[in-house]
Amino acid sequence: MKFARKDLLGLEDMSREEIESILDTADSFVEISERPIKKVPVLRGLTVVNLFFEPSTRTRISFELAEKRLSADTVNVAASSSSAVKGETLKDTARNIEAMSIDMLVVRHSAPGAARYLAGVLDCPVLNAGDGAHEHPTQALLDLFTVRKKRGKIDGLKVAIVGDILHSRVARSNIWGFSKMGAEIALCGPPTLIPPGIESTGAHVHYNIEEVIPWADVIMLLRIQQERLEESYFPTIREYSQLFGLDGEKMKKAKADVTIMHPGPLNRGVEITPEVADGPYSVILEQVKYGLAVRMAALYLLSGGQFESEVTHQERTADRSDTGSRSNL
Ligand code: NCD
Repeated sequence: MKFARKDLLGLEDMSREEIESILDTADSFVEISERPIKKVPVLRGLTVVNLFFEPSTRTRISFELAEKRLSADTVNVAASSSSAVKGETLKDTARNIEAMSIDMLVVRHSAPGAARYLAGVLDCPVLNAGDGAHEHPTQALLDLFTVRKKRGKIDGLKVAIVGDILHSRVARSNIWGFSKMGAEIALCGPPTLIPPGIESTGAHVHYNIEEVIPWADVIMLLRIQQERLEESYFPTIREYSQLFGLDGEKMKKAKADVTIMHPGPLNRGVEITPEVADGPYSVILEQVKYGLAVRMAALYLLSGGQFESEVTHQERTADRSDTGSRSNL
């Protein structure tokens, strides 16, 4: 299947087939990071700019490493060091960067819709690395990929997402992603942190974590997005962690083969205790590991790469200088 999109902005308008094509492509990229020399010439000669207006550790490093392992030239721009602090608009910043003949832009911004806006302004592909509380498509894709690897399937699984759903772009992208892939979704948190009307996505809502723990095959914990809280949504962090934090005691009610996930950064002792985060059911570091392969796949497909399930390792890694065309890879 050809991946026909110019940009990767969110999972809401993506089909199951498109999601599967990214996950299948990512499958063939995992192995590259396990080699002694972790580099293939897939994006050689292309320039990717990572424009980050919000703090990030995992996502920024993951995108940069994905680009480097595909041999792209990369430039990182942080908002604090960009001309945004001198009053330049987002559009001007992006158009000036594009004027230097870049091939792809990865953007993280606090405004929902920022990536879609830039995608309309720029000719080059735009990848959304998180736009406010709206979407974080590559995070959800790596979560789907991790579950598929761990459980062998996504269809029919029961997935509980627990925490600050209201401010979470990870929750939103995962609701779209997991439901399109055939999972059943339960959302759980204090009533103040559940977006009104979210049931219209098909997810069911719970205010008591004890109800979802025995039900779930996968439990995804989310951080309280302190930086997006403009008022008080619950009495104290201590009370929140007692009611909604996943600890060893609550884990006793979980299924024997439960999978525990968290997109990071963890607030240890708040939404998850160290014994659960570092315990045998946790796939938190696998999520990070597979994030790299998923971002390599996204970059590859948006650069014009053609998805073919029979693409062999040799074909992909072959020197393409004689072909001059990325779609032949
Ligand atoms: C998330 C984010 O930035 O949206 N982190 C991530 O990208 N891995 C979640 C969070 O900040 O809590």
